[in-house]
Amino acid sequence: MKVLVIGNGISGLSAAIEAASLGMKVILAAPLQSERTQSVMAAGGINANTGGLNDDSAELHAEDTVKGGCFIEPEQDVMEFCEKAPENLKWLDKMGVMFNRTDDDGICVRAFGGQCRKRTAYAGSSTGKQIVTALVQKCLEYEIKGFIEKRYGLYFYSALITENRCCGALFFDPEKGQLEPVYADAVIFATGGQNKIFGKTTGSELCDGYAAGRLFTQGVLLRNLEFIQYHPTTIETDHKRMLITEAARGEGGRLYYLEGGKPVYFMEEKYGSNGNLMPRDIVSREIYNCPSQVYLDITFLGKEVIHERLEEVYQLCMDYIGLDVTKEPVPVEPSIHFFMGGIRVDRNHMTNIDCLYAVGEAASKYHGANRLGGNSLMAAVHSGRKAAQAINEKGSLLNDDMKESFNGYIEKEQETLSSIMNSKSLFPAVYIQRNIAEIMNKELGIVRSQRDIEEGIDSLDFYLKTLKSLHFDPSVSVYENYRIYYMAVLSKAIMLSALARQESRGAHYRTDFPESKEEFRKCSVAEFSAGEIKIRFENE
Ligand code: FUM
Repeated sequence: MKVLVIGNGISGLSAAIEAASLGMKVILAAPLQSERTQSVMAAGGINANTGGLNDDSAELHAEDTVKGGCFIEPEQDVMEFCEKAPENLKWLDKMGVMFNRTDDDGICVRAFGGQCRKRTAYAGSSTGKQIVTALVQKCLEYEIKGFIEKRYGLYFYSALITENRCCGALFFDPEKGQLEPVYADAVIFATGGQNKIFGKTTGSELCDGYAAGRLFTQGVLLRNLEFIQYHPTTIETDHKRMLITEAARGEGGRLYYLEGGKPVYFMEEKYGSNGNLMPRDIVSREIYNCPSQVYLDITFLGKEVIHERLEEVYQLCMDYIGLDVTKEPVPVEPSIHFFMGGIRVDRNHMTNIDCLYAVGEAASKYHGANRLGGNSLMAAVHSGRKAAQAINEKGSLLNDDMKESFNGYIEKEQETLSSIMNSKSLFPAVYIQRNIAEIMNKELGIVRSQRDIEEGIDSLDFYLKTLKSLHFDPSVSVYENYRIYYMAVLSKAIMLSALARQESRGAHYRTDFPESKEEFRKCSVAEFSAGEIKIRFENE
């Protein structure tokens, strides 16, 4: 069998390695190397229960996850994810991830937000980077054995779908200025979140939501798009928001603001001694409502603990804002960090299109209305492996007739692309993209209302009309030109999902509907049909 994996962060690498270990041939396609993916930015850790050691269990992990996600995620799926977490952690450990160790060589775990036990394994505060390093090494073994072929420099263009079955994908090759089809028995999308749609976030601009937007217009359903996670503690830098890992609070860091020169430890005052480690939606909203600048203080942990467990926090603050966290508190602000919404998948991570899978942050699964810190890295590993196993079990093979059915489509898309490349635009793509980011940020913040969202939709409609006649903007690359329309379509689907959810739940807080409502204890589903976006709510 041949599997095409699109995206080479932790979820894509996990899928590729698992598929190769099951004897499948894998093409791993991505624009750049894994070391450039957003996965390397993941800092604090990865969740798995360590059983009796911490009086923890899969049940407690699942309980925390479902509660943190505000009770809309199917419990049996979360349970399976939590049950498999210790095995997935061992899988990484055996591969050589440099986890911090206890004196008796166990894996160290730390406290993270919204969890009743310490269950976040970590490698200093560069856990993502360490996991990527080990997975890349493992991948290399399978490349040498001929099971994995890496294709860099390829930009996803569209899925090849016929009769509700995915048969591969079209890629844009900027070197050749052409589209290239890659056929496969199954395709796994590991294309990450939607960061670029919102401009400056803690994530990578490579995660621009294009794949989700394009697939959406090809009939793939999206889910829970309104749930956008703000990480409570970030700092501003020129190009992006930098994350001050939750591990800093897990190790004891305290949030406060100053009133009359005295610190007010607002989270502890309102939520008790564990207040700084409430789930992120709650901490972010509390910071948003503070009357003045909020600070994160870890100075009292002492130099030794900071350098041993939070070295990257020290380095980051030194490098970007010239602040020594061993001596001074850090001024922090919430910023967009993660997308609970994305491509709707079943238990095997297959979408509503046969043989088309989505994993990692590209998929909407496990996290409900608000993700717990440390669960995304585990979900990336779990979902990647799970999809590969499911593809192997399904064993559905592509036939040559299916491939031939795409000849006309590929020619037509190549013509569309050539016409984009040969024309000039009055509206630079970059300008439109920045405006969309501004709209999304302004109207879909930590706190939203019907009026804000409707204003956002009106503005997006203007750009969607303009983009219908978009021509090539020579100041940016071709792929940035063809992506923007689909990013705008996805933006509108996000707005419409937020408008439809007339309640507050997790990361979605509506000033006009401040309470949760039983009728909305469901997942939203977005569908693109005959050029229209429709939103419905369903129990899974
Ligand atoms: O704060 C953090 O280290 C982030 C972790 C996560 O989003 O899982």
